[in-house]
Amino acid sequence: MLGNVARHGEQGVSADVTRVVVIGAGGHARVAIEALADSGFEVVGCVSGDGGGVPGLPCPVLGRDTEVAALAAAHGATGVFVAVGHNRTRQRLQTAAEAAGLVPVNAISRFAMVSPSARVGRGVLVAAGAVVNAMAQVGDGAILNTRCSIDHDGVVGSFAHVSVGVATGGAVTVGDRALVGLGSVVLPGRTVGADATVGGGAVVVEDVAPGATVVGVPARRTR
Ligand SMILES: CC(C)(COP(=O)(O)OP(=O)(O)OC[C@H]1O[C@@H](n2cnc3c(N)ncnc32)[C@H](O)[C@@H]1OP(=O)(O)O)[C@@H](O)C(=O)NCCC(=O)NCCS
Repeated sequence: MLGNVARHGEQGVSADVTRVVVIGAGGHARVAIEALADSGFEVVGCVSGDGGGVPGLPCPVLGRDTEVAALAAAHGATGVFVAVGHNRTRQRLQTAAEAAGLVPVNAISRFAMVSPSARVGRGVLVAAGAVVNAMAQVGDGAILNTRCSIDHDGVVGSFAHVSVGVATGGAVTVGDRALVGLGSVVLPGRTVGADATVGGGAVVVEDVAPGATVVGVPARRTR
């Protein structure tokens, strides 16, 4: 059973939120919807940019994301989860939904491990197999994807994406909106700057500058 802090984040969100609308209707949304169910939320439906969705969504597509507040109200939802992979877009959509009065909630898989001493913001996905270890801090809107690990004292910035299978050592910092690509490794104590991209399979041995893209082993900046 997840406590309210894990479900609702650290910032005093009301525990009354039970019904949630999801922004996004793609494969990532399917993952998030299952994790939202694990976290005890009822997903009333999705919205998307064009009002369409991928096959196999376990809920209806209610309409376009521009009408999310009205559609949520019509279905009795006060919570929102933005299931969009692109970091800046996710930030824009979550900020707008919040301004419209919806409450971002967390989607935490029952197969994830979140330390009781970790701090988790709002609108965060912690997917199956992810580990958030002791004293880690995770910002609003972050994606901690399948089987990634944020080790002790790590910091993940707002709207960052730590991809499938990433391993971070202790006290690693991932900046706001950074993308740490599939299966990469970030050695202990290193910083991946805000808006940086770490390519899939890279091993980060030195700090990555904000906005930079690095690839390879050891990770080097691309031109
Ligand atoms: C690093 C990355 C952002 C580069 O994307 P891009 O700018 O479109 O680059 P391209 O595909 O045009 O490739 C440019 C060059 O970099 C090389 N390259 C691309 N990604 C690489 C990687 N991860 N490791 C090593 N080399 C890589 C390409 O082979 C190519 O080399 P060349 O110029 O010698 O032919 C991208 O390949 C990547 O790894 N993204 C991560 C995706 C991810 O993990 N998403 C999350 C899913 S959960």
